[in-house]
Amino acid sequence: METVIYYFTGTGNSLWAGRKLAEQIPDTSLRPMAPLVRNGGRVRPDAERVGNVCPVYFLGLPSLAARFAGMLGLSGTRYVFAAVTMGGIGGTAALRQLDGILSRNRKELDAGSAVKMPGNYVVGYSPPDPAKQEELFRNAGEQLAGFAETVKAGKKARPGPAVFSGLIHAVWYPRFIASLPGSDREFTVSDACTSCSTCVQVCPVENITLEAGRPVWHHRCECCLACIHTCPVEAIQRGKKTAGRARYRHPAVSLPDLKGQQKG
Ligand SMILES: Cc1cc2nc3c(=O)[nH]c(=O)nc-3n(C[C@H](O)[C@H](O)[C@H](O)COP(=O)(O)O)c2cc1C
Repeated sequence: METVIYYFTGTGNSLWAGRKLAEQIPDTSLRPMAPLVRNGGRVRPDAERVGNVCPVYFLGLPSLAARFAGMLGLSGTRYVFAAVTMGGIGGTAALRQLDGILSRNRKELDAGSAVKMPGNYVVGYSPPDPAKQEELFRNAGEQLAGFAETVKAGKKARPGPAVFSGLIHAVWYPRFIASLPGSDREFTVSDACTSCSTCVQVCPVENITLEAGRPVWHHRCECCLACIHTCPVEAIQRGKKTAGRARYRHPAVSLPDLKGQQKG
């Protein structure tokens, strides 16, 4: 059975998770969501088994991943699964959100897994130290291997209730989504900027251009924070709290890998 896994990532955790699944599920191709969302229209996967892998944002799906799920035409699909990566909480609420979107197209999420990975929301906290990251990768690898077996066996593993996080999601998430595109007004760039254009190239939604050698954000931000985390000289800050905090990228995901997300 052919499988296609669609992914969205800011700092590589979800791409790594997608790769882990693709390594273990035969005949799987891995494709970025972002160019498909940019092109618009219905996405009809040429596979009987379809997976979605993305991060958790504010106890829900990234806006782009939610829009992508709504674009999926799954009439030829037999099995739908998803893995969401998260710093700590909200995975079940995000999976249930995805299930709700699919149900509008008379499909359901057959299996979902919420995988704990290093949190990358540097606006709120520092990423975990390297030893803690290693532990998270080890545990995540084991969890994903088990989830790949579930998928291969075609078993059901539907997300359970998310009472507490579901409630917070209901209150918080709509506000987050509404503020998202313009949230890039809070980005600043210092004189350390070398005009290398890494930020331009890693932005999955092509929201950044260089003007007079400096990044300019164009208010269609997804808040993935790839720009801030990958700047080689840490010239980009968001608000006042990110200065001095460590930056993060999954160590097995390269800059060219992240740049590849812009292309279909
Ligand atoms: C805007 C934003 C919101 C986030 N919200 C949550 C959250 O609600 N719960 C959580 O556990 N982690 C949250 N995180 C952390 C990410 O879900 C986590 O680090 C994820 O693995 C990043 O995946 P990526 O490397 O594929 O972008 C958030 C990160 C960002 C950038």
